[in-house]
Amino acid sequence: MTTISQLVAEASAEIEAVNASKTGGMGTWFLREMWYFAAASADVKHGKILNKQMLGEPILIGRDANGKVFAMKDICPHQAVPLSSGHFDGKEISCCFHGWTFNTSGVCTGIPSLVDDQEFPVCKIKTKSYVCREVRDTIWIYFGDKTEDLPDVPEAPGLGEMYCYQTTVRLLLPIHIDYAALALIDPAHVPYIHKSWWWRSARNLKVKNKRYVPEGSGWTMVKHHPSPHSIFQFANDKIETEISFRLPGCRREYLTFGGRTIISGISTLTPIDETTTELNHTTYWTVPGTSFITPFVHYFVNEFLGQDRDVALLQEKGLKHKPKLIPTIKDAGTPGAWYLLCKKEWADAHRDGRAFENPIPDTILRWRS
Ligand code: FES
Ligand SMILES: [Fe+2]
Repeated sequence: MTTISQLVAEASAEIEAVNASKTGGMGTWFLREMWYFAAASADVKHGKILNKQMLGEPILIGRDANGKVFAMKDICPHQAVPLSSGHFDGKEISCCFHGWTFNTSGVCTGIPSLVDDQEFPVCKIKTKSYVCREVRDTIWIYFGDKTEDLPDVPEAPGLGEMYCYQTTVRLLLPIHIDYAALALIDPAHVPYIHKSWWWRSARNLKVKNKRYVPEGSGWTMVKHHPSPHSIFQFANDKIETEISFRLPGCRREYLTFGGRTIISGISTLTPIDETTTELNHTTYWTVPGTSFITPFVHYFVNEFLGQDRDVALLQEKGLKHKPKLIPTIKDAGTPGAWYLLCKKEWADAHRDGRAFENPIPDTILRWRS
């Protein structure tokens, strides 16, 4: 069985190898055959389109007049003008340069310059379309070659059919997704970076002892009562929480009170390019009649994640000199090593045409935070 120190050694070797690469980020590639968070549903209104870059590709995201979301490559196949600069009537997009029209599947439906007797199979002209799904008020795009038998879209856990309120916070991190993922699952930074009057300080570090089990494309820290010194200490014995991580950069957490989920959250990482990563966090809560707390939830999540963004800005100052790095030592660094192992296994499995074999051992990790 692979020991923790072997895992860390393998991760270090990988970090060293990628540091030697020319592109700056920790890795030089993004995982494919995966869902990536694209936008909050509220940001894509009926009959509207928006554009953004994801995994280095220009993407147009839209919602047709019937409310269905769609995504396509944001490049007109004629002369490369972004289609998102054109007009969308809720059904078709017309390019701003020569007016060629495209349906929401990216298929050309008309070329205005053609006269009546100039027949041309315009439907042969296409821009790439992406599989796009809307789940729990969030929009996801699948990056990969497969179009069927796709994995499930990652969802905030513990909610089932419960009615909930939600809000999404979006931040840009000036680092490669690998560094962003390491920070997302790194327990050692929490008391140093996330200092707030309403949260905690680094003065009182406590030993943590948590059990992890392999699950899906990552792992789950099994359900437990929150730490006795957390903000939930007032009702610690009634509260339980479960935290999990899934590729490509998806941290999920939910909290139950007396067995009922009261709050659930999903943080997702979407690479914009090799040096910029978008972090979105959607918080859901289920206490009836509490929609009025939405601005407060948004404020606190934005403050909390802003602390991660601020440290990423500092990290970027050092990373651009491509220093040789030391991974976090011992168990606090193990989730980071697991992330690299899972990522490599996912890529290897797809290259070899076989199923992903989760490399994570059932383990208890101990650290001080
Ligand atoms: S560039 Fe789009 S129609 Fe010509
Ligand atoms: Fe953090």
